[in-house]
Amino acid sequence: METIPTERLSANGEGIARAALLLRSGALVALPTETVYGLAADAKNDRAVARIFEAKGRPRFNPLIVHVADLETAQTLARFDPMALRLAEHFWPGPLTLVLPRQEAAPLSPLVSAGNPTVALRLPASALAKQVIRATGRPLAAPSANPSGQISPTEAAHVAQGLTGRIEAILDGGPCPVGLESTILATESGLRLLRPGGLSTEEIEAVAGQPVTAQTADPSRPEAPGQLASHYAPQARLRLAAPQAAPDEALLGFGPIQGDLNLSTSGDLIEAAANLFGHLHRLDRTHKKIAVAPIPDHGLGRAINDRLERAAAPRPPHSGT
Ligand code: TXA
Ligand code: MG
Repeated sequence: METIPTERLSANGEGIARAALLLRSGALVALPTETVYGLAADAKNDRAVARIFEAKGRPRFNPLIVHVADLETAQTLARFDPMALRLAEHFWPGPLTLVLPRQEAAPLSPLVSAGNPTVALRLPASALAKQVIRATGRPLAAPSANPSGQISPTEAAHVAQGLTGRIEAILDGGPCPVGLESTILATESGLRLLRPGGLSTEEIEAVAGQPVTAQTADPSRPEAPGQLASHYAPQARLRLAAPQAAPDEALLGFGPIQGDLNLSTSGDLIEAAANLFGHLHRLDRTHKKIAVAPIPDHGLGRAINDRLERAAAPRPPHSGT
């Protein structure tokens, strides 16, 4: 991978302005939240979001948490049922992430949801994080700012160890006070804990007046949607590594294999990742069968192939929703 210069920014007006400028131009900036450092990108920018996965070396497209600076913005991105609203009003800003149905017209890259109809939203308590979001004027997608498989960074120096040369900047806001990732909760059909974190279930239950159930019995096998075998499945049948389409198939191209839509005519895997979910949705609306050109199995190509394999996997008997 190419090495890019990583700027070190200070927690002052100049640093915030620089971070915002970089984010608006599609760059990756690590910044502190009250929980852990996040690796932020403009959540509306497909390519910037795709670069997050590349910088982290994530082998698959897990959905990402979208960070906002106020509840009003959050409501333009997702639908809040009364319980979700109550929890947001009580616990935001703070270490609670809510997984909610995405607004149809939400101006967000489909990659932040990994193609799912939900979006995870969080309003961080960190003043610095909020200032950067406001200065950028965009919601920010941000997973923890560590290479995939490593522990979450709670200091700028941890981020620098893992991601120098892979991201444009690190905003140093000192150590993170909570030091543990946010609690992730889904509120549709009961309160479901998707990840324990900085806010305890007891505190949530006290405000909700109803129990929070654990999403999985076995914590070693988390069931975040991106990890389910055939979670994001288009209606259409997928045929992978296809050099050409049969007469009844649409062709999703890559590189020189043009197709009806092409993930990246120049064979750029970041561009291909950025286009993946949008193109699949588009072809899914018009075709019952989709052939997909071969994608090289390195770098982001691995995550693309992982997701395509899930989308092509045999459907479970009750996969209607
Ligand atoms: O405290 C935190 O939450 C930090 C700071 C930076 O905000 N972020 C963080 O992000 O821990 P990350 O990417 O390391 O973890 C996000 C988790 C993933 O396990 C992902 O599967 C889950 O959130 N997630 C994101 N969107 C989701 C969705 N729509 N449905 C279910 N799970 C989702
Ligand atoms: Mg993480």
